[in-house]
Amino acid sequence: MSHRAIPLVCSLFLLLAACGEVEDTRPGQPVKTRQQAFKDIIKVFEPMGVMLREKRYEPEKFLRLASALHEKRDAPWAHFGPDTNYPPTKSTPLVWEDSARFNQERDTFLAATDALLAAAKTQDEAKIQVAYDAVHASCQDCHKPFKTR
Ligand code: HEC
Repeated sequence: MSHRAIPLVCSLFLLLAACGEVEDTRPGQPVKTRQQAFKDIIKVFEPMGVMLREKRYEPEKFLRLASALHEKRDAPWAHFGPDTNYPPTKSTPLVWEDSARFNQERDTFLAATDALLAAAKTQDEAKIQVAYDAVHASCQDCHKPFKTR
């Protein structure tokens, strides 16, 4: 290898080290599984926000997304078992230290997704906006204490 190539290879390595996620090698991959479950949630949640912000509410499409969110909302929680606070987790230790509060935030989120689905069925955009905002707040309210980044 020429000397000129060495700095390039090093900076590539640093880039990979900074960007690359640690693999979840545990049986059943609980961390990876719950992260994927949250990614599946945001994939159906985000388009609803875009639709409302851009003032192009489509009742049928919105209802499909709200139903999809309702179907996916239960997936992450079973994968927060004891002893599952390890890399590459983005959870804070508080998830396990104050599980009562964590479960409370989860239940608030579940209730908010019920309300969003109900609002989506009314096709009343003002009601939908309020219900959407409540779900959004429930994501934030949980992430603040319980998610690191
Ligand atoms: C009751 C708590 C709670 C609620 C409610 C919640 N989250 Fe999270 N979320 C977490 C925690 C904890 C993590 C970190 C999981 C891990 O890495 O161990 C997380 C991770 C994520 C991630 C990162 C996944 C990854 O690895 O890249 C996304 C995206 C996400 N949540 C989106 C949402 C959205 C959108 C909502 C609301 C519609 C939501 N979450 C509601 C607790 C919550």
